[in-house]
Amino acid sequence: MKVLIVGSGGREHALAWKCAASDRVTEVLVAPGNAGTAAEPKVRNAAVQASDIGGLIRMARAEGIGLTIVGPEAPLVAGIVDAFEREGLRCFGPRQAPARLEGSKAFAKEFLRRHHIPTAASITVTPDSFDPEVVRQQRTPIVVKASGLAAGKGVVIAQTTTEAIEAAAAMLAGRLLGEAGREVVIEEFLEGEEASFIVMADGSHVLPLATSQDHKRLEDGDRGPNTGGMGAYSPAPVVTPAIHGRIMREVIEPAIQGLAAEGMAYTGFLYAGIMVAPDGTPNVLEFNCRFGDPETQPILMRLQSDLTVLCEAALDGRLDQVRATWDARAALGVVMAAEGYPDAPRMGDTISGLEHAAKLPGKVFHAGTRLSGDGVVVSGGRALCATGMGATVAEAQRAAYELVGAVHWPGATYRRDIGYRAIRRGAG
Ligand code: AMP
Ligand code: GLY
Repeated sequence: MKVLIVGSGGREHALAWKCAASDRVTEVLVAPGNAGTAAEPKVRNAAVQASDIGGLIRMARAEGIGLTIVGPEAPLVAGIVDAFEREGLRCFGPRQAPARLEGSKAFAKEFLRRHHIPTAASITVTPDSFDPEVVRQQRTPIVVKASGLAAGKGVVIAQTTTEAIEAAAAMLAGRLLGEAGREVVIEEFLEGEEASFIVMADGSHVLPLATSQDHKRLEDGDRGPNTGGMGAYSPAPVVTPAIHGRIMREVIEPAIQGLAAEGMAYTGFLYAGIMVAPDGTPNVLEFNCRFGDPETQPILMRLQSDLTVLCEAALDGRLDQVRATWDARAALGVVMAAEGYPDAPRMGDTISGLEHAAKLPGKVFHAGTRLSGDGVVVSGGRALCATGMGATVAEAQRAAYELVGAVHWPGATYRRDIGYRAIRRGAG
């Protein structure tokens, strides 16, 4: 079988690498891919953009693709799965209607409320309905979120009401995030520890994947601006067996059943960003309609099952008949970003040391990289994700930073403390 992966980030490199490891798979195409997928055995880049749904369908037909897996949210929200289905092509991901769980935070909040799934209290406002007086009555800090897709940049945690009102006004006026900010969710600030809870769903059954934890802030100690994610590890000890049970019962099962009951049966990866409250309540911060980046990299390093078998079982509605088996070791990925990320990443620097890193244990997944002459250059904000494994999170962390130490380019930026919460808990 030939597999197509749509996208070009670290998540897509990990998906392509994992699918290529399957004996059932003859070749993996990645559209458009990066320098890492270009060098992967059995993998070939195809020069079609992830946004070009018509082009992807033509290529899937011409190449005889048996299974397509969509990495990023934008094509899912744009309806890529519906379009592939109309052509009789097998494509793993949610259709356009349920992908709104990520595409519209206002829609997600309404859905959560309808199904009594725990989440922060919130109001949704538009330019016409926004009343600053309502914000003045809120307790600080106040969380202000653009409703539409904002690539991880749509959330402001305001320490004062003035800051919250200014952020909301700038979003609503379209100054901050364009159309994505024309509707804004204003919500209470939640205390707790975050976890990424990602499952596969087939419309009615659910297969939970290994747990993980991301590090959203740019700087050590969770300071600095929010990013797409600076590193992740799996498993996440904050998700104890008891919390795992609560997330499944209070979040995942009501969500999947609720979507089906509303005529939007959900097939694909479903990512719940959870804030585990001090009392164990699993509050939903957000839903994503896709796998996480960088969570995919450590999670797939641990997955021993054939991912293509799991995706096909989901597409056939028999996810209840398969199991996923996991390497008991921990995996930890450190994102290496360009200088200036996330606001103004500097592109074009040549990356050295990749050949040496390839001889070390673990795996360096590429994200924003491209081939230039004989070399690999930085072409995006997050360039690499160096992923190590170990008996403990601390050992996986050591292996990951060995890889980081082997790779160089001017201005490479990364956190030095990925995994610190797990290590502090003693999981290290
Ligand atoms: P989101 O894109 O909605 O997940 O928000 C991005 C990040 O902002 C989350 O990963 C949290 O770290 C933080 N965040 C979002 N909503 C809240 C909230 N209600 N309380 C505290 N932190 C939040
Ligand atoms: N790592 C966070 C995300 O994929 O949304």
